[in-house]
Amino acid sequence: MNFTHFPIVLNTIDEPCQNILGLIDQSKLNLVNIDTSSVYLAYQNKALTLVLNSNKDPLSISIDFALGKAKHRRLYGGGKNQPLPKACGVDKHPGWTIFDATAGLGKDSFVLASLGSQVTLCEQHPALYALLEDAKYRAQNDKEAASIVQCMTLKNHDSIEFLENINKSDSSAPDVIYIDPMYPERKKSAKIKKEMHVLQTLVGHSGEEAQLFETALKVAKHRVVVKRPKSASPLNNTKPSYTVGSVNTRYDVYVL
Ligand SMILES: C[S@@+](CC[C@H](N)C(=O)[O-])C[C@H]1O[C@@H](n2cnc3c(N)ncnc32)[C@H](O)[C@@H]1O
Repeated sequence: MNFTHFPIVLNTIDEPCQNILGLIDQSKLNLVNIDTSSVYLAYQNKALTLVLNSNKDPLSISIDFALGKAKHRRLYGGGKNQPLPKACGVDKHPGWTIFDATAGLGKDSFVLASLGSQVTLCEQHPALYALLEDAKYRAQNDKEAASIVQCMTLKNHDSIEFLENINKSDSSAPDVIYIDPMYPERKKSAKIKKEMHVLQTLVGHSGEEAQLFETALKVAKHRVVVKRPKSASPLNNTKPSYTVGSVNTRYDVYVL
């Protein structure tokens, strides 16, 4: 999918970091004077914020690696024994590099990076990537979050294209590739969480996860990990080597 010209409103007091200015230069973000769009980026309380004005209750979302849920999960989340780090092998192979092929709001990657893993976050959508860049930039003012975000490398790419240019034998090939695909919105489901609603509105369900999975299997050195709803069938109906369960989700682990 090709995402460009996402609207961003900047005021004179805003202080975008260099990488966000770079997105504007590349026309991935498009400067607009006023919020004429129903979905746009703007700074609110010094944080880059995605604003959705399209429904009765306007939604806004920003990422904060230093505060809130990210901090709580870092302090009390259960460390290397949490299902996601276990599935990615962080407990037994702390030096493994991880490629998060579906970075989204960076929550899963932050958990892995907070345990010391080097994580590359690849996000295709420039607005979500811009939120990640801004959160990383602001986290540098918080001593503990700063050392975590140093382990996070951000890329604004389609992961399929990005991975297709890497050989398993390259030194840059990741040890683990993690995939958390978007699922079609279930209309009858109870309230979907605000963050998921924003992701659904922005990127929807591309249906490309099968191709992403096949590409990941060719490139990862040690394993591919796929997040699935607890009762869903495995991606591409490919049986995993084993699964790691959690409350509503499971992680299918493909050992290579
Ligand atoms: C369900 S969200 C991931 C949430 C994420 N695990 C988190 O912790 O916030 C899926 C994300 O993957 C991104 N995505 C899907 N296919 C992609 C691809 N081929 N390349 C890069 N990003 C992709 C979507 O844009 C979306 O932001």
